[in-house]
Amino acid sequence: MSTQSQKVAIITGASQGIGAALVEGYRKLGYAVVATSRTIAPLDDADVLTVQGDIADPATAGRVVEAAVERFGRIDTVVNNAGVFVAKPFTEYTAEDYATVTGINVAGVFHLTQRAVPHLLARGGGHIVNITTSLVDNADSRVPSVLASLTKGGVQSATKSLAVEYAGRGIRVNAVSPGTIKTPMHAEETHEFLSALHPVGRMGQVSDIVDAVLFLETAPFVTGEILHVDGGMSAGH
Ligand SMILES: NC(=O)c1ccc[n+]([C@@H]2O[C@H](COP(=O)([O-])OP(=O)(O)OC[C@H]3O[C@@H](n4cnc5c(N)ncnc54)[C@H](OP(=O)(O)O)[C@@H]3O)[C@@H](O)[C@H]2O)c1
Repeated sequence: MSTQSQKVAIITGASQGIGAALVEGYRKLGYAVVATSRTIAPLDDADVLTVQGDIADPATAGRVVEAAVERFGRIDTVVNNAGVFVAKPFTEYTAEDYATVTGINVAGVFHLTQRAVPHLLARGGGHIVNITTSLVDNADSRVPSVLASLTKGGVQSATKSLAVEYAGRGIRVNAVSPGTIKTPMHAEETHEFLSALHPVGRMGQVSDIVDAVLFLETAPFVTGEILHVDGGMSAGH
């Protein structure tokens, strides 16, 4: 077990994209990390514990939290980063799409956060960061994606609700709301189309989101914030 003075962050969706970069970011900040996803492989770093599992399954949340406490003895931060994006005209969504997107984007956040909170409280507080999407505030006819708004919009509201519920007990709860970010989520051939959706005329980089999460991590007076990192998307077109 690491020394008790080292803070510990749980990061979901950590095998690639934003989540993998968040693992590096929190390590640079000095945190030990519990990194989880379905396929994540062990890292050559004694301060990173990887746990495989489907985040939609409540049992995964239980295993991740237990592993964090067993290995590192504490939990300070949860970054609910795992997420899926299925963009389709509304009537083309299948029941399977609904189950998949709500399972990962909503149930995943709910179960892990609920199991982690008692451990944050045991340390006198902590931080929860949710990753939503700017489309929640700024629906775009070129990208019909009701399931993103239904799920990430709920998470965005829950961010504020949790922030207020726990403000007096030392837990801060924030969200980062990205525009479109260059990750494996988006095939190269879609980049030109996606770039044009942003007032700044380009997609964001993974580092833009990591920097925003780490800002929130180190901002003790910031809670209930939805930090848009979206190239101006939420401001208008
Ligand atoms: N990229 C963007 O343009 C963009 C824009 C707005 C919001 N976001 C949000 O930012 C977050 C990260 O996005 P990203 O672009 O980095 O995504 P990504 O490259 O597609 O990576 C998604 C991550 O989630 C994990 N994951 C997927 N399904 C899972 C499941 N059932 N259980 C556990 N883990 C699962 C994947 O790992 P495994 O396959 O190993 O499970 C992977 O590590 C998501 O919440 C996404 O909605 C992204």
